[in-house]
Amino acid sequence: PFIVTDACIQCKYTDCVSVCPMDCFVEGPNFVVIDPEGCIDCSVCVPQCPVDAIVNAAEVSPQQAEFVELNARLARAPGWRPLTQAKAPMDGHEQWAGVAGKRAHLRL
Ligand code: SF4
Ligand code: F3S
Repeated sequence: PFIVTDACIQCKYTDCVSVCPMDCFVEGPNFVVIDPEGCIDCSVCVPQCPVDAIVNAAEVSPQQAEFVELNARLARAPGWRPLTQAKAPMDGHEQWAGVAGKRAHLRL
């Protein structure tokens, strides 16, 4: 499957969700994930993300490897909900876009 990584945290642009033919994006407080059970590896979501947060799980960097497990787990987490239509990005997204190492800011 494809996965959402660090760059999405505190930005959540949501351009990705509206193009997914499988509706497999799931939203939390300051991040979205891809449900690996639904993803068919079509990759159409990848170029939609303005901060390049979406990658193929099979090609994830060592720094982002934790996000493979996080996408699978958070897609089923209490309070996380499917998101199928784009909405406004988070307040402060301009400041957070491009900041490295946002994993510590992930809210569950
Ligand atoms: Fe959806 Fe395709 Fe992206 Fe998987 S790769 S999340 S199926 S748009
Ligand atoms: Fe996140 Fe990029 Fe989608 S910031 S919500 S993965 S468009």
